[in-house]
Amino acid sequence: MDYPKIASFKTLEEFRDYLRRENIRIGLADEVRSDGTAALAQKAKCFGRTAGNRWAILPMEGWDCEPDGNPGEFTRRRWLRFAASGAKLLYGTEAAAVMHSARSNPRQLTAQEHTLDALKKLCAEMRRTHKEKFGTDDDLVIGLQLTHSGRYAHPNQPHVREAKTAYAHPLLDRKFGCSPANVVTDAEVHEILNCFIRAAEVAQKAGFDFVDIKHAHGYLGHEFLSAHDRPGPYGGSFENRTRFFREIADGIRKKCPGLYLSARVSLFDILPYVKGEDGLGHPMEWSGPYPYAFGGDGTGKHMDPGLKETVRFVNLLREYGVDTICATIGSPYYNVHMQRPAYYPVSDGYPPPENPLYNVSRHLAAVKRIRELCPEMLVVGSGYTCLQDYLPNAAEYSIAHNEADFVGIGRMVLSYPEICADVLAGKPLDRRRICRTFGDCTNAPRAGMISGCYPLDDFYRKRPEAEKLKNIKQKRP
Ligand SMILES: Cc1cc2nc3c(=O)[nH]c(=O)nc-3n(C[C@H](O)[C@H](O)[C@H](O)COP(=O)(O)O)c2cc1C
Ligand code: SF4
Repeated sequence: MDYPKIASFKTLEEFRDYLRRENIRIGLADEVRSDGTAALAQKAKCFGRTAGNRWAILPMEGWDCEPDGNPGEFTRRRWLRFAASGAKLLYGTEAAAVMHSARSNPRQLTAQEHTLDALKKLCAEMRRTHKEKFGTDDDLVIGLQLTHSGRYAHPNQPHVREAKTAYAHPLLDRKFGCSPANVVTDAEVHEILNCFIRAAEVAQKAGFDFVDIKHAHGYLGHEFLSAHDRPGPYGGSFENRTRFFREIADGIRKKCPGLYLSARVSLFDILPYVKGEDGLGHPMEWSGPYPYAFGGDGTGKHMDPGLKETVRFVNLLREYGVDTICATIGSPYYNVHMQRPAYYPVSDGYPPPENPLYNVSRHLAAVKRIRELCPEMLVVGSGYTCLQDYLPNAAEYSIAHNEADFVGIGRMVLSYPEICADVLAGKPLDRRRICRTFGDCTNAPRAGMISGCYPLDDFYRKRPEAEKLKNIKQKRP
């Protein structure tokens, strides 16, 4: 099914009319003022610091680190572009695995003793780059995302899964070829927890302001939140399902005084999707209640309107001094249309089963709801890139109407990092660089190649991988 592309709307009014007709709720401000009074230009206190504006860069890995987990040249380029974007909160830079076996791919960054020197150098370089461009880095806040890839671990070869799951999942085990043998034992959990704590020590020594203990996208931390069927201390009750987080947080508090904590949280989840015979995405068949979607309403189809368990988790985070979380929804592995709304399907995905803008509005609604329910927690929103030319209008609206505290951008920063500074300076957008959600930054790594914006960033467009990627896409049925 084809939906009208964003570039086909000639004015903001035309786009608003379309959203109204389709009953898609996305607030759009008329303009973003460039005199410093825009909501996006306002400072905010987070992680014990003051961020100079409300733009945040979401964590995005590039499958381009050294085989031993040290950042590579491409990693450096990406991080320095994040630093030069004009955003004042670099929320996580990219997922850093806490141990080799936790890596989602053999080129994933790791946060370990042997990567400390390179991380420290890069962190300092980010601050320097930002200061050179914007005059100060006193108002720049940088975190490092720490993760265990769990079910999606491929530490040694790009296509050889070495899954570590929190529990035997009735649908995901089938979809991804896992079995109860992949479930981590309690002893393995202890080892993983210690690696998170050691990784946080590395991040602190490297100069990051905070660490994000990732609880999103179907990775291990997120999977523990729905481990209802796991016996023992890490499954069953809410207390047990959050023990993974609590033990990491307790350890970090003890070993890294002064280091702030955060979590990227999939606020809600739904059933996994697969490509149906009609070529579209459909939820996997399931009858009866579906308890495995954390933050869901129990059907596997919708968000819980009261976000009961998510609120309990956010309140728990508050107890550990977390003042800001980063929101996301679902998973890029099993309901990618929701996690990463796009007009073009990714290579191992399915054409969008519905207008992608519905999923942008689901992101925004979930963030608005968690803010209403947890008013003391600051929330970084995400899922805005699909709005393309109108991203700045939605960003300004979200902040001005207290529907988010920071606007996080992902794919857009790969194609057009300066968008944050340009918007605040009142410059017209460089339309040639606006992300059109072609998906190649996801397709490339799924074919075992480095990630980047192949269509719009000359640096990647000229690389041999660009041609290879084109051939792969042409062969696609
Ligand atoms: C190439 C790529 C890499 C990503 N890597 C991460 C990651 O390391 N950690 C994470 O939490 N999310 C990751 N994401 C998800 C993004 O942070 C973001 O949630 C998603 O792209 C939706 O935001 P957007 O609409 O602005 O792109 C990645 C997304 C892309 C496209
Ligand atoms: S490859 Fe570039 S244009 Fe395509 S989705 Fe990624 S950032 Fe956007």
